[in-house]
Amino acid sequence: MSREFSVAVVGATGAVGNEILRVLEERQFPVKELRLLASERSEGTFLEFRGEEIVVEALGNDSFGGIDLALFSAGGELSQEYCPVAAAAGAVCVDNSSAWRMDPEVPLVVPEVNPGEIARFRNKGIVANPNCSTIQMVLPLKALHDFSPVKRVVVSTYQAVSGSGQKAVDELRIQSGELLNGRPIECKVYPHQIGFNCLPQIDAFLDNGYTKEEMKMVNETRKILGDDGIRVTATAVRVPVFYGHSESVNVETTGKITAVKARELFAAFPSLEVLDDAAKGVYPMPVASAGEDLTYVGRIREDESVDNGLNLWVVADNVRKGAATNAVQIAEILAEKYL
Ligand code: A2P
Repeated sequence: MSREFSVAVVGATGAVGNEILRVLEERQFPVKELRLLASERSEGTFLEFRGEEIVVEALGNDSFGGIDLALFSAGGELSQEYCPVAAAAGAVCVDNSSAWRMDPEVPLVVPEVNPGEIARFRNKGIVANPNCSTIQMVLPLKALHDFSPVKRVVVSTYQAVSGSGQKAVDELRIQSGELLNGRPIECKVYPHQIGFNCLPQIDAFLDNGYTKEEMKMVNETRKILGDDGIRVTATAVRVPVFYGHSESVNVETTGKITAVKARELFAAFPSLEVLDDAAKGVYPMPVASAGEDLTYVGRIREDESVDNGLNLWVVADNVRKGAATNAVQIAEILAEKYL
């Protein structure tokens, strides 16, 4: 019998944590024991896994005894504090937060793009899962980059509220209902109304005028593609969509890549699906991506304003490939090759 693993999910009651449970089930990850960790507020509640009710425990310094793999999705501060605790107890951490992503000793991995990096988990016992918007963008970029190196990327995002957690999903739902009924709304998660609106701010502003989210896309893309020379500029926008991030991506490559060639490269790349038939109105959309693990590319066309440019529209379920699925894929490689 092949080996089974003791797995902890930190933030199991959250939007991503819960999806991690579903992905572990669907992909039949060899789980021997599952430990569900969240805040004291959730202690003693139950979550279902493979038809069994499992009790949620409060996260603490003694949470990781006997754990082989710890999947973290409870925010950066907790990852900063508890990944080293888990690693010291012998667990390998796959961290969904931004806490460790730019640490030079920590690998930042999208399995279809840079799986070999995972071996560097040994440095700190941590593998970082990239930002959701970065994950779906680097898949088509890598397909192009391997054919002709990417020089510059200009991206605008249209990001779903589920990226801000379950409370944000509730906020959009409640605001939509109140607005349709002409009633006043409350803004708790976002600084402004999200129902029937677009917010050109995701995370805090930095001194350079960009937001943290935008700079994550700049820095993480370079780290994952292993090329600090790639120039990236991003505008990240929150839109009133529940699940599925969309991105308008303009790419400049060193040599010419025709739209026909780009379609061919994307079609051959793992986890990418081309949905691009303008005549029939076929293109990727967030509602169609929800619940799926693929990243969809469409509206593929040559940029007529530069010599070697392409325009793409890239869509993926931010909670699945953008977070839970990517994390479980990393865990699978760790389990198969290294643990
Ligand atoms: P809880 O449900 O007990 O608050 P989301 O991203 O959907 O907002 O989820 C955040 C996750 O992080 C939840 O599982 C949440 O648990 C967990 N979490 C938040 N604060 C803490 C904490 N102090 N200790 C442990 N888990 C926490």
